[in-house]
Amino acid sequence: MSLLSDIGVLIGQIILGWLEVFARLFVSPARKDVTGRIILITGAGHGFGRMMAHRFAKLGAKLVLWDVNKEGNEQTAREAKEFGATVFTYTVDCSKREDIYETGEKVKKDVGQVYMLINNAGVLAGRTLLELTDEQIQRTMDVNVMAHFWTLRSFLPAMLDSNEGHLVCICSVAGKVGGHRLTDYTAAKHATLGLHDSIQQEIRVVYKKTGIKTTLVYPYFTNTGIIHEPGMRFGKMMDQEPVSDQIVDAILREKADVYIPADWRFNCLVRDLVPQRVYEAMQDFFKVEIPTQPDKEK
Ligand SMILES: NC(=O)c1ccc[n+]([C@@H]2O[C@H](COP(=O)([O-])OP(=O)(O)OC[C@H]3O[C@@H](n4cnc5c(N)ncnc54)[C@H](O)[C@@H]3O)[C@@H](O)[C@H]2O)c1
Repeated sequence: MSLLSDIGVLIGQIILGWLEVFARLFVSPARKDVTGRIILITGAGHGFGRMMAHRFAKLGAKLVLWDVNKEGNEQTAREAKEFGATVFTYTVDCSKREDIYETGEKVKKDVGQVYMLINNAGVLAGRTLLELTDEQIQRTMDVNVMAHFWTLRSFLPAMLDSNEGHLVCICSVAGKVGGHRLTDYTAAKHATLGLHDSIQQEIRVVYKKTGIKTTLVYPYFTNTGIIHEPGMRFGKMMDQEPVSDQIVDAILREKADVYIPADWRFNCLVRDLVPQRVYEAMQDFFKVEIPTQPDKEK
């Protein structure tokens, strides 16, 4: 009897889930109001972090901006203030656990409970496994994935207590597929996907909270400067302004995930669906080339 009723619930949810997807083709869920909400963005001193800060500033959010690059972070803050936002900046090295924990405590004291945590800070070395130094590999893992553990451990408890919050992970299509000269980067991005998917389940299954939303963002190559001159047969690098519009829109509509561009949802599936020979032939046909990246001083 219990099995039968569980099967009934499962079928009901499957139908509802697909109906929801279908309905959303015509009507998008409304964008939520973030006026006065405390939004923390890591890696706010450049690229997507700065672009998101601009957009949330215009929407009246209270911004907490973290970056290891003080100058870049202060510039983002000045620009966000011009849009009328209240802004708090912190110089944080996200590769250091203690730095994250200490700054997390300062934020709680100075600003209050973080409503939205956007794990965005990232680095990309762009070397083959054998060209990378041990330190570069460690740094990529520390900034691109370990930092997510430490920020989540810092800010999730208060969200669970209040049953309110939003966790955003800026992943990458490299969280789904590999790439040459990206071993460390894709490994870290795959790990953030696992972390994000699992924490989302823990919130629901273990802590039984329904008020904490999660959004996973998978962008393709975008001209923020993190990657220089990737080659591709079709298309070109996307512009960071429209991509950031799409990221913020997905967050405000509380989407569970967003691929930018959208066809990457399908492209990532192909990896698992086709034989290796076909996958390699497709790689050769599309000619995506990641050249050795210049050294970056951070
Ligand atoms: N641009 C792309 O093509 C692309 C595509 C997919 C995913 N992403 C992801 O988007 C996120 C943002 O990248 P971006 O493209 O805006 O790059 P970016 O280089 O423009 O910005 C990254 C920011 O992170 C900061 N940062 C780096 N190391 C840090 C550290 N140790 N502590 C604190 N801050 C640190 C940098 O100072 C910089 O402000 C990254 O997670 C990246 O992997 C980017």
